[in-house]
Amino acid sequence: MKITLLTYDIIDSTNTEALKQARMGADEGLCIIARQQTAGRGRHGRVWVSEKDAGLYFSIVLRPKIEMEYLPLITLMSGVAVHDILREFGLRPDIKWVNDIHVNNKKIGGILAETTETDKGLAVIVGIGINIRSSNYSPEIADIATSIENESDNTFIDDSFHETLAASLIRNITVQYQVLSRPAGHAAIKDEWSKRSTYFMGKSVNVMTGDETLTGITEGIEDNGSLRLRLIDGNIRIIHSGEVSRVRAKIN
Ligand code: BTN
Repeated sequence: MKITLLTYDIIDSTNTEALKQARMGADEGLCIIARQQTAGRGRHGRVWVSEKDAGLYFSIVLRPKIEMEYLPLITLMSGVAVHDILREFGLRPDIKWVNDIHVNNKKIGGILAETTETDKGLAVIVGIGINIRSSNYSPEIADIATSIENESDNTFIDDSFHETLAASLIRNITVQYQVLSRPAGHAAIKDEWSKRSTYFMGKSVNVMTGDETLTGITEGIEDNGSLRLRLIDGNIRIIHSGEVSRVRAKIN
């Protein structure tokens, strides 16, 4: 995949721009990076707060040749890539199904994959936000979110850290995308994801899906990345989309 980089000081959303570029025919490998977003988007219509230089705001255009049923694995593949770059900087990340990157049970990054039809076929935009600095987080946010600065010996965060992080992300995404694109790549990505997520197996969780909240224990993922949940009544439910939260042990 040939990488082309477009960088902006300020933009509405790197995902919105990447979607636009894909519809205009951009090849796969186009990456959009901004120092600040004015309309950063998260999953479920949420806002992704994107203050200047406080995070990496990144999107890449992909034109995957994999079977449609495995498209959700693009999110998992991206999670693997983000996990691995954080490891490179000495952090101990976890992946909360399906796309949240956590360190010490706090969110440090998120992934928003969106698809669009184009004249050249289907394009997938993978948007990735990674928190670099959180010194100005309010106490409520500091309880649920964290940053590289907060979770590391942050002496390596200098003025060019954004570029270092972006280069490392592009390298890792390229590797994992190659893995996904080869024959039986879906099984390999499932395997790589499973090795990096404590949510893969045996985790007590609540899952909000549509208007239901389910409680159960995770029991692996399906070949397409859906989560298998063992409910209290013993039945298995396959979760295609939903918001997972861990059930904390009660301390009396
Ligand atoms: C989530 O966890 O809800 C996903 C967050 C994704 C945020 C990134 S930042 C770069 C890209 N542009 C956006 O507008 N969103 C994604």
